[in-house]
Amino acid sequence: MTFENDHVSFKVNGKQYNVNEDKNTPLLFVLREYLGLSATRFGCGEGTCGACTVIINDEAILSCDVPVGEIEGKSVETAEGLQREPNDPLFRAFIKNQAGQCGYCLSGILMASKALLRKDPFVSRAKIAKALDGNLCRCGAHKRILDAIEEAAKSVVDNA
Ligand code: FES
Ligand code: FES
Repeated sequence: MTFENDHVSFKVNGKQYNVNEDKNTPLLFVLREYLGLSATRFGCGEGTCGACTVIINDEAILSCDVPVGEIEGKSVETAEGLQREPNDPLFRAFIKNQAGQCGYCLSGILMASKALLRKDPFVSRAKIAKALDGNLCRCGAHKRILDAIEEAAKSVVDNA
């Protein structure tokens, strides 16, 4: 789909934004360059690494692969939103398990797992691994990342 230049309105972490950008610009670049929300990472830029994962209307989406024109009226969540929730079970479990090394992959993984636990807090480790199959961690911290998500899921269920 190709869009004409025009403005786009959408929410990020609950705040309303009106953006005058080419509507074909990937959401990833609008978040990072135009809105200054740089927690969402640029990895491959072509939909194969998961570093740029955000939540759009409750779905985990690769922001490098979505023209900003497609999110008119929608609600986007990024890792900056998680930073404002220090008691979020995922946030706490990732810190406790030291789930990550360089951290580059983590904002995408956090958003992918947040969308997953929201849909299915009883999710099994095998399903977590399958759901995160597209989120690469070049440091090889997958085991600790899975440990953290599993622990966060248990905490969500225990506190339900
Ligand atoms: S930067 Fe979007 S999938 Fe790699
Ligand atoms: S912690 Fe370094 S890429 Fe995952």
